[in-house]
Amino acid sequence: MSDQPTPDAMTETNRQIRIFDTTLRDGEQSPGASMNLAEKLEVASALVDLGVDIIEAGFPIASPGDFESVKQIATTIRGATICGLARCAEKDIDRAWEALKTAPQARIHVFLATSAIHREFKLRMTPDEIVERAVAGVRRAASHCDDVEFSPEDACRTEHDFLCRVVEAAIDAGATTINVPDTVGYTTPGEIYDRFKMLRDRVPNMDKAVLSTHCHDDLGMAVANSLAAVEAGAGQIECTINGIGERAGNAALEELVMAMKTRQDIYRCQTNINTKRLVPVSRLVSKTTGINVQRNKAIVGRNAFAHESGIHQDGMLKERSTYEIMAPEEVGFTKTDLVLGKHSGRAALADRAKQLGMTLTGEQLQEVFEAFKELADKKKEIYDGDIVALVQQKISET
Ligand code: KIV
Ligand code: ZN
Repeated sequence: MSDQPTPDAMTETNRQIRIFDTTLRDGEQSPGASMNLAEKLEVASALVDLGVDIIEAGFPIASPGDFESVKQIATTIRGATICGLARCAEKDIDRAWEALKTAPQARIHVFLATSAIHREFKLRMTPDEIVERAVAGVRRAASHCDDVEFSPEDACRTEHDFLCRVVEAAIDAGATTINVPDTVGYTTPGEIYDRFKMLRDRVPNMDKAVLSTHCHDDLGMAVANSLAAVEAGAGQIECTINGIGERAGNAALEELVMAMKTRQDIYRCQTNINTKRLVPVSRLVSKTTGINVQRNKAIVGRNAFAHESGIHQDGMLKERSTYEIMAPEEVGFTKTDLVLGKHSGRAALADRAKQLGMTLTGEQLQEVFEAFKELADKKKEIYDGDIVALVQQKISET
C-alpha cells in the first residue's frame, strides 16, 4: 500500500467515472429479488448516500408497481439523476417520462437489440429497420428531456460495422450516453477493450456522447470486462450492489470502485463513491432482496478481511500491508478479522488473549496453544468465549 501513488499525486491525471447503479432495475431482475415500494425507496436513498451518479429506478412500462416506484423515487429522492428504462417504442418512452418527470435530473434510457441473432430470431427486423427504430426512439426520448441514453442490446455480439452505424445514428438523433451492453456475459477483457477503442476510432461523432459499459457475469468476467472498457475510454460504468442481476448477475459496484481506487496507478480514475458506505449498502440490499452475500465475496463478504492462516496472521500483526491491499475501514468494516482456527498460530492467539484482557507468559501460551489446536481440530470456529475458557482452565491447572 505504501509504495502506491497517493490520491493527491494522481488528481491531475484522474478521469471522473460516472457510476450508474441498476440494482433497482437489472438487479431486481434476479430471480427472487423483487422489492416493494418502501424497500426501493430505502435502497434509492442509500444509493444517494453512497454517492452514485445515476440510479436506474426501474422499467416503468413493465408493471404498475414498477411505474409507481420510479415515480415515487423521481418525486422524493434528491442527489442523483433518476433514470427509467424503455424499449424504442412511443408508449414505453412516454410512460417512462410520465414516471420520471418530477425528478430535477431525469434520464430516459432506451434500448433496442442490434446483434444478428436478436435481429433475426427475436425482432425479425432488417438492419435498416433497426436503425430507423433506434433513431425514432432516441428522438422521442429527446423530446421529453435532454439526458438520453441509448443501448444497442447485445452490442458485444454485434458486427462492428453495424454497431458503428447504429451508434452514430443514435448520437445524431440526440443520445448523450451510448451504453454498450454485454447482455449475455460473452465477451472477454481483451475483446471489449478492442470494441470500445474501435467505437472511439470509427464513430465520427463519438465525442458528443459518454461511452458506457454494462457487463453481465455469465463467464465470471463482468468486473474485469468493465474495467477493460474503462481503460479503453468508457466514462460510465453500469453495475449493481453485490453484483445481483439477470442470471449470473451484473458487474459488482463495490468491486469496480475498489479496483479503481486501489489500482489508481493503472486506471487513473476516480468516482464519487463514499467507499465507507459499501458494506452498509451491501447488507441493506442483501437483507431487502433476500440474496445472501457469499462469505468469500470480494470487498463486502464476511471473509474479505478475515485471515486464518498462522503465517498470514503473524505477518498482519507485524505489518498490515503484508497481506492486506485495502484497509477494512475503507469499505465500511470495523476491523480486520484474525479468525482463530486450526491454521492459526501462537502470535494470533496471544494477540486475542491480550485483547480479551489476559496476558500470557511464554509457558502459559504454549500450554493454551496446544489445547487450542486440539479444540480447533474439532470445531469449525473458535469464539472468544472458547479462548477465555481455555486460558482460565490452563491457568488454574498451573
Ligand atoms: O443487459 C442488457 O442488455 C440490458 C439493457 C437493457 C441495457 O440490461
Ligand atoms: Zn443488463
